[in-house]
Amino acid sequence: MVTLSIIKADTGGFVGHSAVHPDMVSAAKEALNTAVADRLLVDGASACCGDDLSLIMTHEHGPDSEAVHSFAWDVFRQTTRIAQRLGLYGAGQDLLSDAFSGNLRGMGPGYAELEFTERPSEPVVCFLADKTEPGAWNLPLYKAFADPFNTAGLVIDSKMHAGFRFEVYDLYEEKRIWFDCPRELYEMLMFIGAPARYVIHSVESKTLHEQAVATSTQRLSLIAGKYVGKDDPVMIVRCQSGLPALGEVLEPFSFAYTAGGCMRGSHHAPMMPVSVRDAHPARFDGPPRVVALGFQVHDGMLIGPRDLFDDPSFDRARAQTNEVMDYLRRHGPFEPHRLPLEDLEYTTMAELEERLAERWQPMPQAAVPSPR
Ligand code: F6R
Ligand code: MG
Repeated sequence: MVTLSIIKADTGGFVGHSAVHPDMVSAAKEALNTAVADRLLVDGASACCGDDLSLIMTHEHGPDSEAVHSFAWDVFRQTTRIAQRLGLYGAGQDLLSDAFSGNLRGMGPGYAELEFTERPSEPVVCFLADKTEPGAWNLPLYKAFADPFNTAGLVIDSKMHAGFRFEVYDLYEEKRIWFDCPRELYEMLMFIGAPARYVIHSVESKTLHEQAVATSTQRLSLIAGKYVGKDDPVMIVRCQSGLPALGEVLEPFSFAYTAGGCMRGSHHAPMMPVSVRDAHPARFDGPPRVVALGFQVHDGMLIGPRDLFDDPSFDRARAQTNEVMDYLRRHGPFEPHRLPLEDLEYTTMAELEERLAERWQPMPQAAVPSPR
């Protein structure tokens, strides 16, 4: 068995919240090389999307391993020190605790981990997003694993015809449920269509009994009890041979669907699939970016990455993103661009309610609708 872990954190932005400084990336690469030489990891790669630094690692310690999580924590402490030295923005932003204890749960960094027995050929895609929330994966996962208009294999591949099981987390009440699809498609959509609260955590094949997907599902704002940045999710998807083909996994991103995030984590904005080179959200701190790094995992080694959205066939999606962004921006502080009150990451509402409490008066009687 091999475990693929993506562990990520924003430990300082260059400039503002738009990118990671090259010195931080170099430090992460060096630490990963040392961890491979010390045999903690089988292989490791680092990658960035916006202001988030991801450690992509293969190892034999399983998910939630203390050794692997504490290694990542140490790397993020080190990149925080670099950010502090250079005066980068929000140095150490996602490190919510002073000391590491056991694993990273509730400590700030996000992670997606998937343990599997390597198939003779093991194509995987590591998705990294910035300026959005974990529920941003709901729509593309639904399309790739449950929508026959996206995924031809659901109809014409006998290994996929039985469908997939989806594990969905309720982030508010910290509980989970499994949906058996296609039988329970409509039930599942009622929940995952509300992605600020319900988030797909994993997906498994009913035919192969293999886990195909792992997402990061932390919500930093819920962990910290106050705004500390959207949680900028990551996701691992295994492909092919009875799982959706690479092209079926990428196809949902040809549509500029909107997700919560963007400026101050408080706006709906379209997801823009981009190459690593373009993963630097700048306009209105957005639009949210997603990069897709393809690897062949072989004997635990990460053969790759291939920068999968570095492809002109996603140009239309990028153009559509800009169009949708223009349209939504013109709403300014109005919904549906601005998120509903309960999902705002920044708000002045509590303060305003208190300050204006005395000024509210009952509506004039004539304006009160009479009971029917
Ligand atoms: C969104 C994000 C940014 C910041 C914005 C304000 O996830 O990170 O949009 O919220 O740049 O940042 P502060 O309050 O740090 O000035
Ligand atoms: Mg970020």
